[in-house]
Amino acid sequence: MGSSLRRITAIKARLHARLTLVVRLVLAAAMLFAASPSSGAADSAISQLDEQCLACHSSKGMEMKLANGDVLSLQVEGAAFAKSVHSKIGCAVCHADTSFENHPPIKRKIAGSREYSLAMTKVCESCHAPVAKQYEGSIHAAQLRDGNAYAPVCTDCHSPHAVMAKQAYEASTGAPCSKCHDPIFTAYTGSVHGQATLGCSSCHNAHDVSAASKGDRLKSACLGCHQDALEAHQKWLPNAGRHFDAVSCPACHSPNAKRKVDLRLYDAVAKERVAEKEGVPQFESRARLADAKGGGLDALALRSLLRGFNSEGTDTTLRGRLEVSTGVEAHQLVRSAQAIRDCAKCHQQGADPFQSVTVSIVGPDGRQVRYGAKPEVLNSIISVDSVSGFYAIGGTRIKLLDWLLALAVLGGIGAPLGHMTIRWLFKKYAKRISGKEDS
Ligand code: HEC
Ligand code: HEC
Ligand code: HEC
Ligand code: HEC
Ligand code: HEC
Ligand code: HEC
Ligand code: HEC
Ligand code: HEC
Ligand code: HEC
Repeated sequence: MGSSLRRITAIKARLHARLTLVVRLVLAAAMLFAASPSSGAADSAISQLDEQCLACHSSKGMEMKLANGDVLSLQVEGAAFAKSVHSKIGCAVCHADTSFENHPPIKRKIAGSREYSLAMTKVCESCHAPVAKQYEGSIHAAQLRDGNAYAPVCTDCHSPHAVMAKQAYEASTGAPCSKCHDPIFTAYTGSVHGQATLGCSSCHNAHDVSAASKGDRLKSACLGCHQDALEAHQKWLPNAGRHFDAVSCPACHSPNAKRKVDLRLYDAVAKERVAEKEGVPQFESRARLADAKGGGLDALALRSLLRGFNSEGTDTTLRGRLEVSTGVEAHQLVRSAQAIRDCAKCHQQGADPFQSVTVSIVGPDGRQVRYGAKPEVLNSIISVDSVSGFYAIGGTRIKLLDWLLALAVLGGIGAPLGHMTIRWLFKKYAKRISGKEDS
């Protein structure tokens, strides 16, 4: 009994010695980082100089009025700062132009709190250049350049005096993204991923966040974690690769969502989506011009819209994609046992998803610009050549083409395509194409 107690005491002592050594090493390393020459007090996370700043700035309710009437809170939580990754850097490094000597009061004019943030976050870039570069390429930075007052800068996502290590973000609170995308966050918490406490950035990244509809990035993110997904779908879904291109993952995995078709303007020569030319938006004005009656593009209007784009010598067609109607619905993914497997949900005359149609182009910041179209454009002989990349049998096929297909497959028996025959046809057709699938 006594000896084991002694052993424990000895271990504790050794541990203590080792811990202090670790602490000392950490502090020494931190000193090297700290650009402030005065981070003196080794036993406090906060230097004496910083304590002096905090002597005033930890006061509750301390604030100042800015030129435009905004009120800037001047209170800094000392305890949170002490725990933050920057505690060793010291106030003076980031606030080089606000010293004991030159304030209070502040001599320069601060226009407003947004202007203050925009100017102050420059300091973050000075030490985190690679991250800042990623951020510059994001939709958030593009929105900022466009003058969107709600686009996040560094300090909207990282509380400037309580910056934590990256592991501390998001898990269950959704912070920092939930602050501005709350409806999506709320929807997301109930989803398979929300419950597995994946953060928003596991699909969207944290800094180089791009427009959701841009390229294949989100699909690649899904397949990056679910590497066997294509193979798993091939077992029951004919030409699964084609479905993955033409149907968004949430369209099947968010089963209660409203689904719709988006027809994307596509340059058949350059093999990429058509993007609005920088500074000269044409899509909406052209669409409105074509849609003289204002009820959404019909087949003729759609053709004339495409002609407008093709008059510049390009070969613009349309690529269909079946997707969910809203961003909120894209985040309500459920367990796969509840996902849509019923072919008739899509492959049936008049199937729901084909009753709502938009036409879209890539906008200047990468987000889509959409214009409504009438569902009939999917079934009209007029638009058949332009809606070339998108034939969902039953769902969108022009009746005549359904007939031709039926004749080809059935070897001449032209029966009216009822629900059951369509299902049967799928089986045959599926077998025929599954041989060359994804080859
Ligand atoms: C004697 C109290 C006091 C001390 C000490 C003090 N401040 Fe201030 N600080 C103020 C007051 C008061 C204001 C508001 C000035 C105004 O209204 O013109 C202010 C404003 C600020 C601002 C906002 C405006 C700006 O210039 O960006 C910052 C940042 C700031 N102080 C940082 C610091 C730092 C860093 C230290 C330590 C080096 C420090 N302060 C020390 C009282 C103090
Ligand atoms: C890592 C850099 C960094 C350090 C270290 C830092 N600050 Fe700041 N501080 C900022 C930035 C950036 C802002 C602007 C925040 C915003 O509004 O976007 C700011 C804003 C302020 C403000 C204005 C009010 C506000 O919160 O926006 C005060 C006051 C202030 N800091 C005081 C301090 C004091 C005191 C310390 C040390 C205890 C300190 N800061 C340490 C970067 C820093
Ligand atoms: C839209 C929110 C958001 C904005 C804006 C943002 N960050 Fe982050 N940042 C995060 C999140 C979330 C994490 C942690 C998760 C991760 O790294 O995936 C993070 C992690 C970091 C990290 C540590 C991980 C790494 O990638 O090195 C640094 C450093 C960082 N941010 C600095 C910055 C700077 C500097 C800016 C401004 C140029 C900035 N952040 C803007 C959300 C943001
Ligand atoms: C004077 C240089 C300096 C400035 C200015 C600075 N940082 Fe840092 N930052 C650091 C250092 C050093 C670390 C610690 C790196 C480490 O632990 O690997 C750090 C760590 C971080 C981390 C956590 C990194 C991780 O890997 O988990 C984030 C997030 C971060 N900083 C964001 C910011 C933001 C936002 C600003 C602006 C308000 C800012 N930094 C300003 C030097 C700076
Ligand atoms: C300070 C507010 C703010 C914060 C915090 C914020 N965002 Fe955003 N975000 C915006 C704004 C504003 C836009 C552009 C307009 C829009 O789409 O509403 C945007 C756009 C986006 C888009 C593109 C939307 C589209 O239509 O394609 C995505 C994706 C996105 N944010 C993800 C995130 C993620 C992930 C985080 C957290 C790491 C985050 N946001 C944090 C304000 C914010
Ligand atoms: C499992 C991957 C995944 C996660 C995690 C995720 N998203 Fe998304 N997000 C998507 C997909 C997929 C889309 C829709 C893309 C499409 O088909 O257009 C999307 C779209 C968006 C959009 C654009 C919505 C619109 O109206 O077009 C925003 C904003 C967004 N996400 C923010 C967030 C936020 C905030 C979080 C965290 C609460 C989050 N996302 C978590 C996959 C994800
Ligand atoms: C046509 C509808 C449909 C589309 C499109 C679809 N899925 Fe599925 N998915 C399902 C169904 C139904 C199941 C369940 C199959 C089962 O239980 O046998 C499933 C199962 C899964 C599973 C779990 C099964 C496993 O073992 O891998 C994952 C993960 C998954 N899908 C991811 C995706 C991703 C990622 C995409 C987009 C690239 C996608 N799905 C597109 C209908 C679809
Ligand atoms: C960072 C990795 C990661 C990314 C990215 C990701 N997932 Fe997941 N996914 C998971 C994890 C972890 C689970 C939960 C597994 C569990 O609880 O069994 C999951 C679960 C699922 C399930 C339920 C599987 C089942 O067996 O019921 C589906 C479906 C799914 N994900 C689809 C997607 C889709 C679609 C995307 C892209 C929009 C995506 N995932 C992106 C990691 C990821
Ligand atoms: C969520 C809607 C949806 C579901 C569910 C769905 N499909 Fe499809 N399917 C489509 C769309 C959209 C296309 C058009 C693809 C294109 O034009 O590239 C398509 C294309 C096809 C094609 C033609 C492929 C090609 O190469 O042209 C076949 C065959 C097919 N589906 C069979 C099925 C079968 C069998 C099922 C059920 C096991 C099924 N689909 C479930 C939407 C769906």
